[in-house]
Amino acid sequence: MTTSRISRFYKLSISERRAALLQDLAASRALKTSQVPLCQTSELPALSEAEQILNTGGLALEAADKIVENVIGLYSLPFGVALNAVLNGQDRLIPMVVEEPSVIAAASNAARMIREGGGFHGESLGDLMIAQVEIRKVPSFEKAQECILKHKEELLSAAGIALPGLVRRGAGPRDLVVRQLAADHLVVHLLIDCGDAMGANLVNTAAEAISERIAELAGGAAGLRILSNLTDQRRTRVRAKVPVAALVGPNMEKDSGGAIAVAIEEASIFAERDAYRAATHNKGIMNGLDSVVIATGNDYRAVEAGAHAYACRDGRYAPLATWRARGEFLEGEMVVPLALGVVGGTLRVHPSARLALGIAEVTSAADLAQLAASAGLASNLAALRALATEGIQRGHMSLHARSVAIAAGAI
Ligand code: MEV
Repeated sequence: MTTSRISRFYKLSISERRAALLQDLAASRALKTSQVPLCQTSELPALSEAEQILNTGGLALEAADKIVENVIGLYSLPFGVALNAVLNGQDRLIPMVVEEPSVIAAASNAARMIREGGGFHGESLGDLMIAQVEIRKVPSFEKAQECILKHKEELLSAAGIALPGLVRRGAGPRDLVVRQLAADHLVVHLLIDCGDAMGANLVNTAAEAISERIAELAGGAAGLRILSNLTDQRRTRVRAKVPVAALVGPNMEKDSGGAIAVAIEEASIFAERDAYRAATHNKGIMNGLDSVVIATGNDYRAVEAGAHAYACRDGRYAPLATWRARGEFLEGEMVVPLALGVVGGTLRVHPSARLALGIAEVTSAADLAQLAASAGLASNLAALRALATEGIQRGHMSLHARSVAIAAGAI
């Protein structure tokens, strides 16, 4: 996008919005071709084709019948975009699929505040998926560990042979770790770089390919062979620094920014001290994050499972994002395990998911994870700011009232 700050976007008709963003995206692509290439699935169709995809939800009934079982129809959700985001210096639109009123407006509003401080700063903390191979009835953990590690190269190469396409693309198995679970029970973690794929099938294939050999080396019996959704070797960090003046809304005292920043820090501390509050705090994050995960055809159940397991990593459920008031700025940071893909899976069959990647100008799986995490952090900021000032019901309920009015045929 040349700019994600499109004023009065919400006032346009749906077809005017589509035309405005697709024209701008085409212009920005012409400018960007010499920069970082977009991922292969983020193709941008012509406006007429995009219209067709957006009007129908993208998925044909015949395609749906091939994806899951016992299909009786299609099920739609609203597809919108959050505005105002800047990620690592680039203006980006954030595609969001969500049924809850106010999520997209709130994320756009918070992204505007974060933009005032330079936007979101995203980075990937690792890119490895975990394949778990469980081994039972191990006579000696120490001997089994020693023997498995002595054959590490052999095991990694056997896993690579099971994933020829991935290895050809320069990714593949990278390391192996042995963990003891009980006196006679261990699990081997095979760490695999899945490139731009989410990687569930790749990881499961590799785990199955080497499990019998591991059992033999350990002198035990192979148990389960499956990925772990606690993808803590594939995490994303996103940070934001908001000038306190940007937190002040139109009906607030002009110099109240500092007090709002402190109130948001206090709301963060409440979540840091109390699991009941942390669950709701994290739900607000997932409002934004899941909406991007769903829009781009990714597995939101996997993301949810990983995020909440990670939130509990120290034995107590904690907030994924925290905020501190520091001088003239409010600073926020979130680290979340995020295994997303931009090739394979649903993307092969879902034109709306591919269109979402195109709208977001996604360059890689890691880039998509940073954008989704940015939406999560923005949603969290919007919720905490509302809770710490006027309360959530005012903004939320006016949008809720709108959907009730639409349901009643009033507008
Ligand atoms: C509602 O969907 C999400 C919030 O409850 C999040 C929060 O309390 O932080 C508003």
